[in-house]
Parts: sequence; C-alpha cells; structure tokens
Amino acid sequence: MGQQTIIKLVDENHMPQLGLGVWKASNEQVVGAIHTALEVGYRSIDTAASYHNEEGVGKALKESAIPREEIFITTKLWNDRHLDASTALQESLDRLQLDYVDLYLIQWPVPEQDHYVDAWRQLIELKEAGLTRSIGVCNFHIEHLQKIMLETGVVPTINQIELHPLMQQRQLHSWNATHHITTESWSPLSRGGKGVFNSPLVERLAMKYSKTPAQIVIRWHLECGMIVIPKSVTPSRIKENFDVFDFRLEKEDLTAMAELDIGKRIGPNPDDYNQL
Ligand SMILES: NC(=O)c1ccc[n+]([C@@H]2O[C@H](COP(=O)([O-])OP(=O)(O)OC[C@H]3O[C@@H](n4cnc5c(N)ncnc54)[C@H](OP(=O)(O)O)[C@@H]3O)[C@@H](O)[C@H]2O)c1
Repeated sequence: MGQQTIIKLVDENHMPQLGLGVWKASNEQVVGAIHTALEVGYRSIDTAASYHNEEGVGKALKESAIPREEIFITTKLWNDRHLDASTALQESLDRLQLDYVDLYLIQWPVPEQDHYVDAWRQLIELKEAGLTRSIGVCNFHIEHLQKIMLETGVVPTINQIELHPLMQQRQLHSWNATHHITTESWSPLSRGGKGVFNSPLVERLAMKYSKTPAQIVIRWHLECGMIVIPKSVTPSRIKENFDVFDFRLEKEDLTAMAELDIGKRIGPNPDDYNQL
C-alpha cells in the first residue's frame, strides 16, 4: 500500500487527505470502527456534536496507543449553538476527553437565523485560545463565505460540502480553491454508492484498475484535490476504502467522471436548511 497524502491548509496546519466519517455510527460502533481504522493507517476522524458519538470517539482515542498529536480530530458546532460556540466546543472536548481538537467547523450557515458571522468570530477566538488548531465551515455557499471573510478578514481553512460523482460542485470547489479554502467532500460515496457504483463508467474503471467501485470514487476525490471522509463501520470496507494509495487514475478517466454529474443532492440545500 502506498503512502497516504497530507494536505497543507491555508493556516499552515496539515491534515490527512483521507479520513473516517462517523455520522450515524453509534457510540458502540464507533469504538470498533476507529480501532480498525487506526490499525489500517487512518489518522483523521470526522465527528460532530450532532452525531451523538463523541463519547465513543473519545473512548477509542483513549484506548489507542497512538499519540494524540498523530491523530487529526474534527468536530462541529450545531445550528442552535451559533451564539454559544465556546461552551459548545468545551462540551465536545469533555465528551471527547481531549484538550483540543484539530479542526472545529460550523456545520451549517442557517441563513434564516443569520448568526453564522457571530459563530465565526467565536471560532476565531477559540483558535487563538488553543482549543482548536484550525477552524472552518461546512455547507457554506459563496455568499456565506464572502460574508464571514469580509466581516472578519479570516479565511476558513476548510469548506466541507456535499460532493460526490452525482453532485460534483465544480463551481464552489473552484471558488474555494481560488480563495485558498480546501474543499472537503461529505457523502463522498453518495452514501453507499447508489447510482454510482453500478454506473457503466465506474464499473469499467474498477475492471481497468483492478479496484472496487468505492476505491475508484475515493481515488477520484483525492486526485481532484478534495479531502475525503468515507464513513463505514464495517471492518472490510474501512480497509478497502483506505487501500487507494497504490494507483492513479489516468487523465482521460478523471475527465470522463464529469459525465456522472447530474447535480443530484442527497442532503438538504444549505440555502434553505434552517433546522435547529
Ligand atoms: N458536514 C455535514 O453537514 C455532513 C453531512 C453528512 C456527512 N458528513 C460527514 O461525511 C461522512 C461521510 O458521509 P456519509 O456518511 O453521509 O456517506 P458516505 O461516506 O458517502 O457513505 C456511507 C455509506 O456507505 C457505506 N459504505 C462505506 N464504504 C463502502 C464500500 N467500500 N462499499 C460499499 N458501501 C460502503 C457505509 O456502510 P457501512 O457503514 O454499513 O459499512 C454507509 O452506509 C459522514 O460520516 C460525516 O462524517 C458531514
């Protein structure tokens, strides 16, 4: 297996390009999943207060012999805590049994509430206080990004957005890149590969490279420069999803992947997602 790739963020911190997503994994499931992942070589875990499994993540980290500073931990601020980010992060740290996280993200802009600039100001202070090494956002469209950058002058390191072959987000990815914001793909497998793994193109590429459809899709994210966090609690899949550093997709195959983009969302549109 080849060497995993590491991305340098705009704040000079480094983040593994491939991590483990843990949404919908229970506290019990997440402990086993993280142990398997760390054994295989993953060094990045993506959780959130809203996933209700930070305790499990903390337990797995406590049990692991791998030093804390070698593992990159992301958690997220939920929508009803935009005016209360400092307490919310401290609660996450308590559940994770950590002194700091590596990345703290605002999970949704919640435009109707319109407190995301206040939340961003607090995240800037939390970084200065050393409670998170990097700060970023999720599900921000260009207007939301422009607003926080204009009001504070601080560029988010990451914009974590829904991004997979059926919804390739080329315009937003390119805008992020122009502003030195790294794009991170959520639901990178279209949540289990529906409509992707069985497409003739991905099936053909899987045959060509002697890889599985999931590995082809993960490799596509890596080569397009995204950070990618496929979720699995299944040991064989956790291993499969990490076994992607020993091949590269040829340029013509990367280009061909564009044909799968039908702009199909799995999750909500951030412009009208206002759930608290
Ligand atoms: N910021 C946000 O708003 C946001 C929103 C959604 C997700 N996320 C993050 O992004 C992560 C990934 O997104 P996601 O969980 O929605 O979807 P995903 O990673 O695209 O897909 C996960 C699903 O695919 C299955 N799977 C995993 N590897 C597979 C493989 N090799 N072959 C076949 N099936 C496979 C998993 O099943 P098993 O687990 O049963 O193996 C699970 O059902 C989340 O866990 C979370 O950390 C963030």
